[in-house]
Amino acid sequence: MSGLFPRPRTVVAPGAVHVPEWLPPERRRQLVAACREWARGPVPLRHPVLPGGGVMSVRTVCVGRHWQPYRYARTADDVNGARVAEFPDWLAELGREALVAAYGDGDGSPVETYAPDTAIVNFYDGAARMGMHQDKDERSGAPVVSLSIGDTCVFRFGNTENRGRPYRDVELASGDLFVFGGPSRFAFHGVPKVFPGTAGPESGMRRGRLNLTLRETGLD
Ligand code: SIN
Ligand code: MN
Repeated sequence: MSGLFPRPRTVVAPGAVHVPEWLPPERRRQLVAACREWARGPVPLRHPVLPGGGVMSVRTVCVGRHWQPYRYARTADDVNGARVAEFPDWLAELGREALVAAYGDGDGSPVETYAPDTAIVNFYDGAARMGMHQDKDERSGAPVVSLSIGDTCVFRFGNTENRGRPYRDVELASGDLFVFGGPSRFAFHGVPKVFPGTAGPESGMRRGRLNLTLRETGLD
């Protein structure tokens, strides 16, 4: 939703940058359409199951590599055994554009070498949330690119030591980009709240929140 007062680009922590409304509405709709396609198969959208038997409240589908708590594989052995959809070139290009928006493309920018190979697509509806965690199943320190579409949420961005304070709560709305790399790459983060019904009509999503994170797994 485009507010009366544009929200500024914000460096939330060193290496962690929030760029509001980075995705134009047309690209939001393209991403929503692509996610709908991926959600149909070859591996369907499902609630990930934790090793202890707990079930995550988000529903997830992966592209490039399948993530199951807490590892990546080419096949979705915890769902239907199918090989996940190929990671498309256009999505890697979108990831590089996102890094330029967050960090610029000057000397030392990681954009030159950034080659994301996996996307985790999370769909939040009802009371879905995500607890504080680190993204550490990758064998790469490359930045994580996060794209949000649909309902606004509270994104809690913490420190690299533990799940608690200090953290900052940032509202991620439809079209927002958040990148975390460098000293923030292994910061704890989570989604304590989604505000139902806050999505505008522009993305073509009737309800809920969609989040895509692009990652370099560092796996061959
Ligand atoms: C994640 O940490 O994998 C998802 C974050 C989000 O939904 O914004
Ligand atoms: Mn995460």
